[in-house]
Amino acid sequence: MRVNGVDLLVRTGGPAGGTPVVLLHGFPFDHTLWDGEFAALEGQFRVAACDLRAHGRSGGAGTPFAFEDLVDDLLGVLDGLGIDRAVVVGLSMGGYAALRFAEREPGRLRALVLADTKSAADTDEGRLARAAGARKVRESGVAAFAEGFLPKALAKRTLESRPAVVAKVRGMILGCTAAGIAGTLVAMAGRTDTTATLGRIRVPTLVVVGAEDALTPPADARALAAAIPGARLVEIPGAAHLPNLEEPEAFRAALLPFLRGA
Ligand code: MLT
Repeated sequence: MRVNGVDLLVRTGGPAGGTPVVLLHGFPFDHTLWDGEFAALEGQFRVAACDLRAHGRSGGAGTPFAFEDLVDDLLGVLDGLGIDRAVVVGLSMGGYAALRFAEREPGRLRALVLADTKSAADTDEGRLARAAGARKVRESGVAAFAEGFLPKALAKRTLESRPAVVAKVRGMILGCTAAGIAGTLVAMAGRTDTTATLGRIRVPTLVVVGAEDALTPPADARALAAAIPGARLVEIPGAAHLPNLEEPEAFRAALLPFLRGA
């Protein structure tokens, strides 16, 4: 789908009359992060999962962009698919985009799932770490970046005993380019803080987090759930930053009933 001057890969499925659910992956992954959820949902829901700009097989890696462009892209995808109001499911960076979308386009939101994410913008220390990461991936390449990222994203048990999950995550990272990763780091460093919006969210919200997530720890998820009226919080034992891959059954046991009620 051509959106805002960029070609985005958008996978769609499910009945046209089903409740629309849009799945937003984290950084630096792609829409296949959600393969399991896509399969579980497409019998009942109208599902869309895209490679966000500068990720996977979508374009846009070669041009500087702002975090807001990801939100524009989400809006463009909804418009392109003729979807008025969607359930938006976002993991980590996808959750940052979902929260900014909730702030900017509340009327287009039906329900919200926030997985392993937070509302705060980067601290100065975080921004400097993004700059260092961007430099490193440009100098050392994506493979080295992937090996540095895996131990931060996955629980020790996943790393040691789930080689297929490790290979999948590595494969998604290797599917991104150094320019795309560096550009996304710069864009994330410039994103705004959505904390002030949380108390104004009026749609059903599910907050999920891996109990061992070190990148967006359970304390961030608890803060989201406490601030969003009526939000439900589920912590998933044995998982870190990617609970839908690390503990898929527990993740779907939280997600599916929520979506059926949305
Ligand atoms: C992600 O998984 O999207 C990233 O870890 C988010 C971030 O770097 O802030």
